[in-house]
Amino acid sequence: MSNSGEAELLHTFKGIPFTTRSSPELLKSLDTFDAREDDVLLVSYPKSGTHWLAGVITKLYNTQVTITSPIEFGDISQLEELNKLSSKRIIPTHLDYNMLPLNFKNKKCKMIYISRNPKDTAVSMFHYYRDNPNLPTVDTWTAFFDLFLKGNVVCGSWFDHFLSWEKHEDEKNILFLFYEDMKKDLPKVVKEITLFLSLNVSDNDIQDICEKSSFSEMKNDTEKENSDPTHTVCALTSNRKLIFRKGAVGDWKNYFTPKQNIRFQEIFNEKMKLSKM
Ligand code: A3P
Repeated sequence: MSNSGEAELLHTFKGIPFTTRSSPELLKSLDTFDAREDDVLLVSYPKSGTHWLAGVITKLYNTQVTITSPIEFGDISQLEELNKLSSKRIIPTHLDYNMLPLNFKNKKCKMIYISRNPKDTAVSMFHYYRDNPNLPTVDTWTAFFDLFLKGNVVCGSWFDHFLSWEKHEDEKNILFLFYEDMKKDLPKVVKEITLFLSLNVSDNDIQDICEKSSFSEMKNDTEKENSDPTHTVCALTSNRKLIFRKGAVGDWKNYFTPKQNIRFQEIFNEKMKLSKM
């Protein structure tokens, strides 16, 4: 990774690297954010399937909902912009639980956390680093692998992020989902989401929504899109075309060397020893 690139594109707040698309002033002011009881938060570590989940969730409502830009995206005016919205808000974020605006916690807003096998997340993020001009350049997979394991990447350590949220897994207003479960049986996960959000959606409609949310449909829609090609639910880019890469489970096997796999597993076992995962 080039040092000059890193210096220009990233800054650290409370020990976590953010891109300059999240201003320090905004990050400092997050706790002043006025949450509403009916806000729904869509939470993830980058590259965990956030856009997929957002695509599904917006199709579940028959009332007006707005999927906003991520709460940590932009400058201090972001908080005011979000407050101006009169419709129900679905708010994406990559924030660690500890950085989440207090008001969301106090008001017990519904939050959906989506997670993914960190090995696939790492590979997906490696490609994102290569394609996304808002992220520092990274020369090789080997170099990126080390950065990822050290948590020296945007949004910090995957382990810290996951553990900060997993601690709250049993709270009634938090739903934990896994990318791999969505790949295995999307209608089942969508049903779970409708129950969590108290939405009445028929099985036929769920089936239809799942078909419209397949990787190929979503990728095609994005490629044809003229209306709002710049809207993403990731604070790290506005370009949806960077999101739909491969959409597979197990791509890590094409990148990890046997040695890297052992090292990853050792660190995983150590960091996650108190986790239920
Ligand atoms: P890959 O890079 O492994 O392909 P996020 O939305 O959090 O940035 O996550 C992006 C990852 O989710 C990418 O993974 C992307 O291809 C995958 N993805 C997006 N839409 C998907 C879908 N409909 N089905 C399966 N995977 C999807």
